[in-house]
Amino acid sequence: MTKDLPKLKNIPTHVAVIMDGNGRWAKKQGLMRVRGHEKGAKAVRQTVETCAELGVKYLTLYAFSTENWKRPKLEVDTLMKLLVSSLKKELPTLQNNNISLKAVGALELLPATAQKELQEVIQATKDNSHMSLTLALSYGSREELISVIKNIASQVKDGNLEIEDIDNEVIHQHLYTSFMPDVDLLIRTSGEQRISNFLLWQIAYAELYFTEVLWPDFRKEHLIEAIYNYQDRERRFGKTSEQL
Ligand code: IPE
Ligand code: IPE
Ligand code: MG
Repeated sequence: MTKDLPKLKNIPTHVAVIMDGNGRWAKKQGLMRVRGHEKGAKAVRQTVETCAELGVKYLTLYAFSTENWKRPKLEVDTLMKLLVSSLKKELPTLQNNNISLKAVGALELLPATAQKELQEVIQATKDNSHMSLTLALSYGSREELISVIKNIASQVKDGNLEIEDIDNEVIHQHLYTSFMPDVDLLIRTSGEQRISNFLLWQIAYAELYFTEVLWPDFRKEHLIEAIYNYQDRERRFGKTSEQL
């Protein structure tokens, strides 16, 4: 099933993806979980390229959560190695498509090699302007919100901010994702229908799209299907249809 590209009007500005189902994909093939992660890393490229082709301006990928640190050491180590090798391998894809890379999360917890590779790719792509790709790594939305609250509280304490002036915009400016608008379309693969501590503030009015497809099987046509589905929805933001 190959579909035409969705009509270019009404392409979501910010797409976020919870890339889930690598372990189950591997299990189905009788393979070790880590093989699923390897295959999952390969599925990332098509999503990145298709989003760039469609004119999505911001793509955020949930690659590793705060809670994922609790997985067996072998799995965590493999995921960190895969991160480093994928960053090395995908730099040309980012350059060829004029995509800048960013990362959000408690990045200081990543192994030194991963931090270094990440910084190199971020630096090398920082002037690319067609699309902004953000990896959520060692990311938890509650941890992000705790850091927002701490930063705002210390500004108030130091007399640099009035409590009355704390509003949506002030909170937005303190988020790890302050350089991006809110999410328009959130996709989760693998059939799970939960948020798992991802972008809680930023998805307040996102359209949610769940698919049974496991992440390693997620291809261009699945992404296009999700965007068609998004385009059929009426985003009312609390208003009535007639007001739109
Ligand atoms: C998503 O796949 C990748 C990460 C969370 C790093 P999973 O590893 O969660 O796969 P399942 O959910 O066990 O199938
Ligand atoms: C969410 O998937 C995190 C990522 C995709 C990186 P999980 O597989 O960790 O989420 P839960 O545990 O099923 O909620
Ligand atoms: Mg999972």
